[in-house]
Amino acid sequence: MSKTVFITGTSSGLGKLTAIRFAQMGWNVAATMRTPELETELTAYENIKIFKLDVTNVEQVHTAVEQAIAAFGKIDVVVNNAGMGTYGALELAKEEAIDWQFAVNARGPINVIRGFLPHYRTTGGGMFINISSFMGVTTAVPLGSLYNMSKFALEGLTEGLYYELKPLNIELRLIEQGGSTGNNFKGNITWNKDAAIKDYDDLMTKVEERINNSDPSQLDDPQIIVDAIVAQATGESTKFRTVIGAAGNNLLAMRNSVPIEEYLDTIAKSYM
Ligand SMILES: NC(=O)c1ccc[n+]([C@@H]2O[C@H](COP(=O)([O-])OP(=O)(O)OC[C@H]3O[C@@H](n4cnc5c(N)ncnc54)[C@H](OP(=O)(O)O)[C@@H]3O)[C@@H](O)[C@H]2O)c1
Repeated sequence: MSKTVFITGTSSGLGKLTAIRFAQMGWNVAATMRTPELETELTAYENIKIFKLDVTNVEQVHTAVEQAIAAFGKIDVVVNNAGMGTYGALELAKEEAIDWQFAVNARGPINVIRGFLPHYRTTGGGMFINISSFMGVTTAVPLGSLYNMSKFALEGLTEGLYYELKPLNIELRLIEQGGSTGNNFKGNITWNKDAAIKDYDDLMTKVEERINNSDPSQLDDPQIIVDAIVAQATGESTKFRTVIGAAGNNLLAMRNSVPIEEYLDTIAKSYM
């Protein structure tokens, strides 16, 4: 019998590519997104069913979980992929932007995990694959404190849950990639700005330049990230954390090999 994966944030980028890959592998796919009415690509696959889901909306989570179970019977793997980035100095962030960053990247996965736990308990287990970032295990881009906060929170959530879910045969995985080609992430970044405060302008300009002119050789092929997700779902890999790409792996190696003060100074100086 075909296995089933439930994926959040499949309107673009990694979520969409992951949905297509699983469908091509013969899995059933519950592809969720905020605007199903706009979707034209995933609709071409017979084994993909699309459900409306804004992960910040607990009621919608319950409805989408029920609809996916009704459509496919058993869900084997849930991929918490939906995410966005709020960048800019913390002082300049609007209150709503701070809450929204946490709501989408951390509270969203909490909602979805809680939505599926009763199903996983009654069906004897399952897997949650949480899409984090190397920004969830390192700090590497100044003015990204809120994004770091949200992904560090996702990391802590996932690690902390391990102990209570292992006895129930519910597995947890983290994928920590860097920037990739083929996503709309830049379009999903909101920038905190305040024309009246100039003290962060220099750093802001440098960070924006660095993000907008990312060296394509430092961007991962998104299919490699999809490979890593598939490897977890199929049991080919049992790694709790998978760090993808040279940028993330180099940063993590540096962070783990020197005192934190030296790590922080090295990153800070690269933006001076
Ligand atoms: N691209 C990178 O540089 C990068 C690096 C490391 C980690 N990541 C992580 O990788 C994951 C996928 O991002 P991506 O690179 O594929 O970028 P992307 O193309 O922007 O995809 C993000 C997806 O999340 C969805 N989303 C945003 N807010 C949502 C909400 N409230 N409820 C449901 N869906 C929501 C977006 O849907 P809408 O179309 O409705 O906005 C979109 O489908 C994210 O968790 C991101 O943090 C990305």
